[in-house]
Amino acid sequence: SVIHLVDYRAPAWHVEHVELDFDLGIDRTDVVAKLDLRRMANEPLRLNGEGLELLSVSVDGRQLGPNDYILGNGTLEIAIDVDRCVVETRVGLRPAENTALEGLYLSGSRDTGFLLTQCEAEGFRHITFFPDRPDVLSKYTVTLRADRERFPVLLAGGNPDGEGELEGGRHWARFVDPHPKPSYLFALVAGRLARISQDYTTADGRPVALHIWAEADVIDRCHYAMDSLVRSMRWDEETYGRNYDLDVFHVVATHDFNMGAMENKGLNIFNAKYLLADADSGTDDEYRHVEAVVAHEYFHNWSGNRVTCRDWFQLSLKEGLTVFREQSFSADMNSAPLKRIEDVALLRRAQFPEDAGPLSHPVRPAEYSEINNFYTATVYEKGSELVRMLAGRLGKDGFRRGMDLYFERNDGDAATIEDFLSALGEANDIDLTPYLAWYGQAGTPRLSASGQYDADARRYTLKLRQRTPAGPGQAEKRSLPIPVKLALFATDGRMLPLKLRDGTGPVDTELTVVIDQAEATYVFDDVDVAPVPSLLRGFSAPVILEFDYAPDELAVLLQHDVDGFNRWEAGQQLAALAYDDLRDGKQDSAAVTAWTGALATLFGNEAIDDALLAELLTPPGEIELVERQAERDPDRIRATRKSLLAALASRIGASKLRQRYQSLHARTTGALDAQSQAARQLKRRMLDLIAAVDESDARTLALAQYNEAPGMTDRLAALTILATTSTDGAAASIAHFRERYADNALALDKWFAVQAQLPGDDALARVQALERDATFTLRNPNRVQALIGLFARANPTGFHRADGAAYRWLAERLVTLDGLNPQVAARVATAFNGWKRLEPVRREAAHAVVAELAGRSDLSRDLTDILGRVALG
Ligand code: ARG
Ligand code: ZN
Repeated sequence: SVIHLVDYRAPAWHVEHVELDFDLGIDRTDVVAKLDLRRMANEPLRLNGEGLELLSVSVDGRQLGPNDYILGNGTLEIAIDVDRCVVETRVGLRPAENTALEGLYLSGSRDTGFLLTQCEAEGFRHITFFPDRPDVLSKYTVTLRADRERFPVLLAGGNPDGEGELEGGRHWARFVDPHPKPSYLFALVAGRLARISQDYTTADGRPVALHIWAEADVIDRCHYAMDSLVRSMRWDEETYGRNYDLDVFHVVATHDFNMGAMENKGLNIFNAKYLLADADSGTDDEYRHVEAVVAHEYFHNWSGNRVTCRDWFQLSLKEGLTVFREQSFSADMNSAPLKRIEDVALLRRAQFPEDAGPLSHPVRPAEYSEINNFYTATVYEKGSELVRMLAGRLGKDGFRRGMDLYFERNDGDAATIEDFLSALGEANDIDLTPYLAWYGQAGTPRLSASGQYDADARRYTLKLRQRTPAGPGQAEKRSLPIPVKLALFATDGRMLPLKLRDGTGPVDTELTVVIDQAEATYVFDDVDVAPVPSLLRGFSAPVILEFDYAPDELAVLLQHDVDGFNRWEAGQQLAALAYDDLRDGKQDSAAVTAWTGALATLFGNEAIDDALLAELLTPPGEIELVERQAERDPDRIRATRKSLLAALASRIGASKLRQRYQSLHARTTGALDAQSQAARQLKRRMLDLIAAVDESDARTLALAQYNEAPGMTDRLAALTILATTSTDGAAASIAHFRERYADNALALDKWFAVQAQLPGDDALARVQALERDATFTLRNPNRVQALIGLFARANPTGFHRADGAAYRWLAERLVTLDGLNPQVAARVATAFNGWKRLEPVRREAAHAVVAELAGRSDLSRDLTDILGRVALG
């Protein structure tokens, strides 16, 4: 059954207040829910409920018999003839049997684990009967009862409202949340947990007790998360004037979680992967991710919780906006250009391919059959890019004015994308409705540009043309407003003043034009030399730019562009041209020479910072390069990319690489400051480049680095080089790592992940052997992602072996996994996306497997939905 945006209807019944009583146990939990209901339309009451054992139901105190209601198909329907009433249900749950990790479930073992909930999007209906939709906002009073020995800690969202003893070694705790919220933001946690705490006072003077909870063995690894939380809270006060609004804020870590983290009101729950960070087992990347995800979930308190979504079609209203807020925060805390590079690289790696295949959907989808499959790169990352365009259009102060109005108007309410655009627009007297088209139209627009210089007239004419390719359900595409930030460079690196004909405002060296038609022409006067245009600066719109640069023009931008993003981008484009030439057998082409030459020069430039240099020295990855092939052959892509690295390494020269490696290595510490991180990152690049020309030298360096590493970043980089250059030769280090981190689940995930990504013919056999490791389990989503997910998504040569054996193996695993955890199975299955663009032999093999799976009738709605769409190719 497919749900359509156009069918939206306001809820027939509101729940003003809900009282929940939990009698908690691992095998059996009883839930009593008392709903204070108010009629909004003349319809029977329909409550959602799935997998619940209904024990009793009453209306205004009167017990109903089985003939007084209709139970089936995920709903409980009761005909009610009054406008206000109290409905009370009592249901039984079985948390320990819940392997889907949705609703109430057990994390960890029966003896030591704890109970927790995950409700977004539609998990609350697995806990009790309720109108489980985001536009029903209610005040919650929650009482938890449990055995004190087994469940010493009892938490729910809201402010604490009493606790005490009960007979038989049991105890209780109550929580009242004064802020009306939808059911997807409900949460509880119960078990043995340790905590760290900190006092915080908001800018508007509210004292808040901050608590981070985790199992005792990992609680020491939560301090970085606490610091990040405090930074996030300050930042949201300073940047958006948003203060926290309860007396307590709890954050809990679990190893068993389907996603990254969840913004439940007052009780955020995190996948441990995004909360724990310590010097011995966390990489630099992971520290940054912890900071970003802690901020993301905290920022949801306003963009998501205080203002929530009217329906799940509006998901990007909270997710796109919150990703944008999170990205801005990270840019402020770290390096803004590097953050931009990281974000755009992610968009290209994850969202562009999604949008180019059968899973393509608009940022605001028009229909879905399973909403869990829409927590996608499109809704999150492209959604953030749309907010960024709007913010750019309004400028810093205008955007803040718009956000203030958005929060003020919609506080305590469930809003839509239209509400967002109208608040931003009205606060600035600007009509933003043209941007709505971006939310409703899928596909990555192509922006083709061409320039013409007239030396006699000293005139530069820039032509832009846009076109969005057809996609599922959308044959015809409209023109969109595309902001193009641009500058013109002379070949000596000078920026030229921009005198746009018919333009207003002062002459500057950078300006933004917005093309909102299929074509537009811009004429610049008084241009004294033939310029090299720097277009789409800072990646001013999520499009694919096509401009026929000559290699030496890109080299000019790579050398001189002051927009850090575009400088990197010029290098990426140039590397891609060089890649095409190498693929076509042109070893010494202009592009190869220009790319390696420019980087060799930058390599010697002391002024350029280590982290940016490391990024510049990294050509597009195998997954990005796939997009350049009409028919993809992973083996060929990998081999060509390797020769690209080799060309760069030999141009710079092995001895210079080694020297730089040694000097970085000599000053390596485990310190977390930006400079130390940058040094580690550059050092890793040096190893990769050395490996491209002299594997045995790289191995010698890597082995020493592995043994002396002051922290995980260096250790893991070294292990990766060792294992990639010779799996057998790395056996001792791999065994050592396994032993050293035997008790650290997140580090073991990395151990699986490194091996899952090793390329080549024996990759599948290796993964199958790893499945037999005592610590492998299909029940833990992180472990599944580390081994199976990464093999399928990040090991192109291994997964796409020509005989199709890995496809067939994955199909078997998906069926088993689906029986345990449909959400995780569906996500892993997206690895089959793009099968249609494989070269013929692989395409045939993949199609056979996908078609067979898609034809089964015994799979979950989650997996069926993905397979059905992927099969369409
Ligand atoms: N809202 C969570 C976040 O912060 C993610 C929830 C994901 N839920 C799901 N069913 N996939 O992004
Ligand atoms: Zn989110």
